[in-house]
Amino acid sequence: MSPHRPRIQPSILAADWADMRTEVERIRAADGVHVDVMDNHFVPNLTFGPQMVETVQRISPVPLDVHLMITDADRWAPGYAELGVFSVTFHAEATADPVALARRIREIGSRASIALKPATPVEPFLELLPEFDQVLVMTVEPGFGGQSFMADMMPKLRTLRAAADRHGIDLWLQVDGGIATDTIGIAAEAGADTFVAGSSVYGAADVDAAIAGLRAAARRG
Ligand code: DX5
Ligand code: ZN
Repeated sequence: MSPHRPRIQPSILAADWADMRTEVERIRAADGVHVDVMDNHFVPNLTFGPQMVETVQRISPVPLDVHLMITDADRWAPGYAELGVFSVTFHAEATADPVALARRIREIGSRASIALKPATPVEPFLELLPEFDQVLVMTVEPGFGGQSFMADMMPKLRTLRAAADRHGIDLWLQVDGGIATDTIGIAAEAGADTFVAGSSVYGAADVDAAIAGLRAAARRG
């Protein structure tokens, strides 16, 4: 398993949007809050925009991990970094120049993260890894919560971890989609250290116990 302390980032996609303040405060034991921005073009679903991200940023006790599932990331992603969020993830499939965009995001002051859909290979990005703070390997097709974990994405994590080690960089490897106590260890064992969990946290009766359970299961790898 990864040598790092596993980071757990619940996704508010699965929260009760009628009571966002309480929902965000409920996850203060987590390492961050994952905010899924969807534009109805890159994915067939529509969620939050900059104003909501700014609102969550104002009320959250934990850092914001913004996941942009939007087209034309080159145009829109820097504006999210300008809100002062901890990390901005854009999709490799939605940018013309991932390195330029990552540099811009870092320059503004957020961590720069690149996401890969299940069909997107890692190989073209391996030489570029020092340009990023994090790579998100999607373990479902982006767009919706509650889907099943794709274990066949694990070779991508292994390849990325080996390449990051070769570069000698502290690259965070994030997984998103279908992460629960029965899947998180598989991803941790393959090299992931940062875990997004929507339904398995917000669907639990005891959110603190769910976060602790995920952390323990990731450690067991
Ligand atoms: C899916 C989103 C995920 C989603 C995960 O497109 O990117 O962050 O919230 O939800 P679960 O954990 O329920 O698969
Ligand atoms: Zn996400």
